[in-house]
Amino acid sequence: MTTFQEAIDTTKATLAAVPIYCGHGYDSVHDEAVALVLAAARMSATTDKSVLGAVLETTALERLADFVQQRAIHRLPTAYIIGKAWLGPLEFVCDSRALVPRSPLMEVIAADYQPWCTRTPRHIVDLCCGGGSLGILAALNRPDAVITLSDIDVDALNLARENLLMHAPPNARLLRADLLSGIAPRSIDVILANPPYVDGEDMQALPPEFGHEPNRALAAGVDGLLLVYRLLAEAADCLDEEGHLFLEVGNSWTALEEAFPHFAFEWLDLEWGGHGVCVIAQQELQYLRYGAGSE
Ligand SMILES: C[S@@+](CC[C@H](N)C(=O)[O-])C[C@H]1O[C@@H](n2cnc3c(N)ncnc32)[C@H](O)[C@@H]1O
Repeated sequence: MTTFQEAIDTTKATLAAVPIYCGHGYDSVHDEAVALVLAAARMSATTDKSVLGAVLETTALERLADFVQQRAIHRLPTAYIIGKAWLGPLEFVCDSRALVPRSPLMEVIAADYQPWCTRTPRHIVDLCCGGGSLGILAALNRPDAVITLSDIDVDALNLARENLLMHAPPNARLLRADLLSGIAPRSIDVILANPPYVDGEDMQALPPEFGHEPNRALAAGVDGLLLVYRLLAEAADCLDEEGHLFLEVGNSWTALEEAFPHFAFEWLDLEWGGHGVCVIAQQELQYLRYGAGSE
């Protein structure tokens, strides 16, 4: 007979011995072990500690053994194993059709785009939406705005559709497009852009967990900015004159600084973690396009 506490302890020890890489929605091996055990027992992730002394059924133990093998040997992220991930207050369906949700842009949504946006946003675009977590958070946070969730990848959009059905925001729509190609000029107030941005060197060094995520969602050329140059130009045209681009580039923030040495990027101080997120006003994008990159 194995109690939940024993199952968590054993799972934790196995994962720590590998050691696995945490960072796809979990901070520690302990949290991953708890998630795997609760999912194996088909119990909610919010189950309280009173369950610790209870005994796991044989079927749950068999499922857990399979989960641990997938996590420790095949190095699948826990979110893909249990089929769920959380961003902010929301749960999302999660599988290898899109990245595991973890974008620090959720902090910008929670702050309601303040202090940058002085006007109430009417149209927000979740650009490169993947499974749709940011766009759905944005839609529920701003029911008075229209939210477009856009991605080039059909698989990612199908996952986003499942998540839209689960949360049912009435003000969100899906768009398949290459970056901002499907968006009318001057029609957007806020772009939340989370394009692929991992550079060549970082791609080589990523832990095996990332190998289960779609390559097209991560890899972005030698300097990580393959799509960013084009995005900066397109965003200048699509944004309203009072609009803002919130752009996540992670570790590639240094490459972006180097590419535009005369432009003072505003990098956000992210209280909930993460780095490499900047905000650029539409007027500044015009300047970036025509002047700041040149010597
Ligand atoms: C970093 S992932 C986005 C993750 C998502 N925002 C989230 O929080 O889960 C990058 C996404 O960009 C998409 N993508 C890649 N190239 C694109 C392009 N040219 N136009 C639009 N989307 C693109 C990929 O399909 C992938 O879903």
